Amino acid sequence: MRIVDAHANPEENEDITLRPQRLADYIGQRDLKANLEVYIGAAKHRQETLDHVLLYGPPGLGKTTLAHIIANEMGGNIKTVTGPSLERTGDLAAILTSLEPGDVLFIDEIHRLPSVVEEVLYGAMEDFHLSVLLNREGTARTLNLDLPPFTLIGATTRAGDLSSPLRARFGITEKFDFYAQEDIESIIQRTSKVMQTPIESTAVSALAQRSRGTPRIANRLYRRIRDFAHFQQAEIINEVITQSALNALKVDALGLDDVDVRYLLGIIDRFKGGPVGLEALASAIGEEIMNLEDVYEPYLLQIGLINRTPRGRVATEKAYKHLQRSYQGQLF
Ligand code: ADE
Repeated sequence: MRIVDAHANPEENEDITLRPQRLADYIGQRDLKANLEVYIGAAKHRQETLDHVLLYGPPGLGKTTLAHIIANEMGGNIKTVTGPSLERTGDLAAILTSLEPGDVLFIDEIHRLPSVVEEVLYGAMEDFHLSVLLNREGTARTLNLDLPPFTLIGATTRAGDLSSPLRARFGITEKFDFYAQEDIESIIQRTSKVMQTPIESTAVSALAQRSRGTPRIANRLYRRIRDFAHFQQAEIINEVITQSALNALKVDALGLDDVDVRYLLGIIDRFKGGPVGLEALASAIGEEIMNLEDVYEPYLLQIGLINRTPRGRVATEKAYKHLQRSYQGQLF
């Protein structure tokens, strides 16, 4: 089973009851939250729309949740699209012209916006002006429209892939970090209340330890552990149930799944611990480069199992130990 995925599973997408609605109920990301409190409070005080916001960081850390909270706090509606779904300028024009004053337009995966669409977005972001070239039956004409003031929230796992003109048009840029153990524990406690299945505190910490600092993973695993508990007719999730469910789900002591393990063993067994270029490694283990780079590597780097060097990826001594391989030390 694949635990980590760039795309949220629909079960969790639809379950908005798990998502906090207000900033005050949002757990973790303290610095980001404190900044946003100021910007939202100040914009409301001035009765203005919030400046455009760029949210970036690894998947599953709550960028979409936060975009909904921002819209909610500002008292506007939110319209959600993904970058690649806006294929033509007309697609963007259609959504922009449907906005009401104070609405939020949320563009997920904004780094995948086609460049012709991106260029139309510039004017819309800068002075709420829409100017698109319409080409109908061989005659071109320009559509010029004033838009209501709105807030664009862009989310991306790869801020580095955004063009600098686009990045420059966001007044607010905030980075998401992996959550600390105690924050993941609080999120699990909250989920347990919302889903009305109690969980013992030892089970909470066991689950949090294997959730890769990622609320989406914690919540996904919680649901499966809850299935194991209910299947045994247990009313409370305890540590024994949790550990055995996590083992059955093939989530190891550090929260690594089979792709992480194949990634690490790929470096260790096939490339002598590295350095190895990401392309060679991806093809050796049969995974997509982008998926490894956006979804898997950030956590492996964070917990010190790999290093990125100019000559490629290297497995660290900690990775060898974790996978019970003997470490000879790096020759070079
Ligand atoms: N559920 C998922 N992420 C959350 C967060 N950061 N705070 C509270 N509940 C959450």
